[in-house]
Amino acid sequence: MTGSNPFARVVVFGSINTDVVVPVPRLPIAGETLLGGDAAILPGGKGANQAHAARLAGVAVAMVGRVGQDELAGPALSMLEASGVDLGAVRPSRRATGCAMIWSGPDGSSTIVVSPGANQDINADDVPEALVGPDTVLVLQQEVPLAENARLAARARERGATILLNMAPAQVPDRETLDALDYLIVNDIELAMIAAALGIAGADPAERLARAIGAKVLSTHGEAGAALTDGETTIRQPGRTVDVVDTTGAGDTFTGVFAACLVRGLDEAAALAHANAAAAHCCTRQGAQTAQVGWDVFAKDV
Ligand code: RIB
Repeated sequence: MTGSNPFARVVVFGSINTDVVVPVPRLPIAGETLLGGDAAILPGGKGANQAHAARLAGVAVAMVGRVGQDELAGPALSMLEASGVDLGAVRPSRRATGCAMIWSGPDGSSTIVVSPGANQDINADDVPEALVGPDTVLVLQQEVPLAENARLAARARERGATILLNMAPAQVPDRETLDALDYLIVNDIELAMIAAALGIAGADPAERLARAIGAKVLSTHGEAGAALTDGETTIRQPGRTVDVVDTTGAGDTFTGVFAACLVRGLDEAAALAHANAAAAHCCTRQGAQTAQVGWDVFAKDV
């Protein structure tokens, strides 16, 4: 993958949602009715957020996914459309557009319930052959059926694509998917989950995991920064101090920008630094895609 290749692009296979975000003074408890602030209807979905972040980082991006034929489809696709993401492989579904209900707390934390709806209908065959090749950085996450990720990952591996999986929401991927990966992106919870599932114990779990799966592991640690390891050598990127408003979509932003940096031909250390900075910026504003705008990923000293 080189930055001078005009055909290189990011292809995101994944979820597209509309997020209904309600600011709350604290998280509600079971059985309670809590009064929150004004609701905002925002574009979201881990896949769509990753595609939008990659596009804002200046590369060609194609989104593959499904939306319903309902009133939530428009908001879900609005910022992808406006930013110039190729939506030719986004197909209609008979199910409802994916929807996430987000309670956004005053400290920037959030609780999310996702109704996947149309995202459940995604099919690995939705990805045209022309979008899977050596010029492709394929981005996967886990808000779609894991079996479809596995089928596509195996096909993309055969065709020489570079494959990233963001292990969110936290579920252990199929072995077939793990075998196809170049990069696995995990937060602390996801790292602990997959380490336990693979019987990895002791110090340096990311390094052990990288050796066990034969792929590089990117681990994100919130305010403590991020790291990239191939199991032998580890690059560490310190955290950035920002005024946190809303952490929704920070991991998606990290993933999308890292993928875009690979397409741009940046080395891994620079890609890690830019992804880390972009994720921190995302935390300073409300929403996911709405928090990615108004900032040039490459204008900052990272
Ligand atoms: O990662 C954040 C995303 O998770 C939100 O946009 C929401 O749609 C859920 O999928």
